Amino acid sequence: MKICITGGAGFIGSHVVRLFVKKYPNYHIYNLDKLTYAGNLQNITDIEIEPNYTFVKGDIVDKDFITNLFEQEKFDGVIHLAAESHVDRSISNPLEFVQTNVIGTVNLLSACKHIWGNDYNNKMFYHISTDEVYGTLGDDDKFTEQTAYDPHSPYSASKASSDHFVRAYHDTYKLPVKISNCSNNFGTHHFPEKLIPLCIHNIKTNKPLPIYGKGENIRDWLWVEDHARAIDIIYHHGMIGQTYNIGGNNEWKNIDLVKLLCNLMDGKLGRAYGESQKLITYVTDRAGHDFRYAIDSSKLQNTLDWKPTGDFEGVLSQTIDWYLQNEEWLYNVTSGNYQKYYEEQYINR
Ligand SMILES: NC(=O)c1ccc[n+]([C@@H]2O[C@H](COP(=O)([O-])OP(=O)(O)OC[C@H]3O[C@@H](n4cnc5c(N)ncnc54)[C@H](O)[C@@H]3O)[C@@H](O)[C@H]2O)c1
Repeated sequence: MKICITGGAGFIGSHVVRLFVKKYPNYHIYNLDKLTYAGNLQNITDIEIEPNYTFVKGDIVDKDFITNLFEQEKFDGVIHLAAESHVDRSISNPLEFVQTNVIGTVNLLSACKHIWGNDYNNKMFYHISTDEVYGTLGDDDKFTEQTAYDPHSPYSASKASSDHFVRAYHDTYKLPVKISNCSNNFGTHHFPEKLIPLCIHNIKTNKPLPIYGKGENIRDWLWVEDHARAIDIIYHHGMIGQTYNIGGNNEWKNIDLVKLLCNLMDGKLGRAYGESQKLITYVTDRAGHDFRYAIDSSKLQNTLDWKPTGDFEGVLSQTIDWYLQNEEWLYNVTSGNYQKYYEEQYINR
């Protein structure tokens, strides 16, 4: 079994690659990644010498490259995580999100259709998507697999579009596909432009903690290892043509989450209780900022027997420890281009 995991040098992809390489020695796992600012091979140094692992540097937007690669390797399955993934960047540069998230996905679907012909036996295209395609919620309710799509940011619009293309390839060409839509992930190896690693980095270095608006927006947080486990279960046991929502049942207002991070880190850094909260700085709200996301993952829990780990504070504490112990990783990803982007985003406002 040859499986191509796209975006395997990114945050979630690196956890998925590691799980598949270690758990399935009889599979050969190809990690296809362009290594954008968000892709980092240091995320997977522990498995790079495994005999069932191959890294391929390449761009999913490059149709000829993708077609040649798929003709050559004849993958049996694709787990597609490669994407431009940061909402703020999508507001500055929507076209890049259309290129990678929409055209890149269609290139992969077309390449699968091309090499698989009409023989779909043991073949699978599994597309990893986000709860942001569903739009925003009020105080109640949760997104189910039946919730109508209503994306508001260029990022979520591009992911929604890619989901529609995946379904269209199933409905039109009978391509065997699966889709999952997941809530916000947290864990190790997360690029520090996203809320949790950004705050950990800034608390440690005594920099302001930029909070959009009043910090009232609510997100559901899921440990990345739980997401990787769900992807494994859905890839092997999910029903073809179906969508599965994945969530942590763990809603937090942004401001409460940041205060929790501050308090946990005060303890770890030997600071007085409340000291790090002084770094909280409110900044102009993000345009089109969705108020609340919440996921109903009962379909996945009831039909495929998956459950999130729970113990959010414990896992968050372990996650903080990893960032504190891996200064070199943090230094490498926070130098150069990242610094320029960071200043444009938060300092020159
Ligand atoms: N992070 C979350 O909380 C979250 C939640 C739900 C769904 N998702 C989805 O999961 C997937 C992975 O998210 P992530 O947070 O790990 O993203 P990430 O930004 O950390 O990683 C994306 C990876 O894709 C690669 N990539 C980007 N453009 C590429 C291209 N043109 N060709 C090949 N590779 C390319 C990057 O180099 C990087 O390694 C995305 O599809 C995202 O929409 C993320």
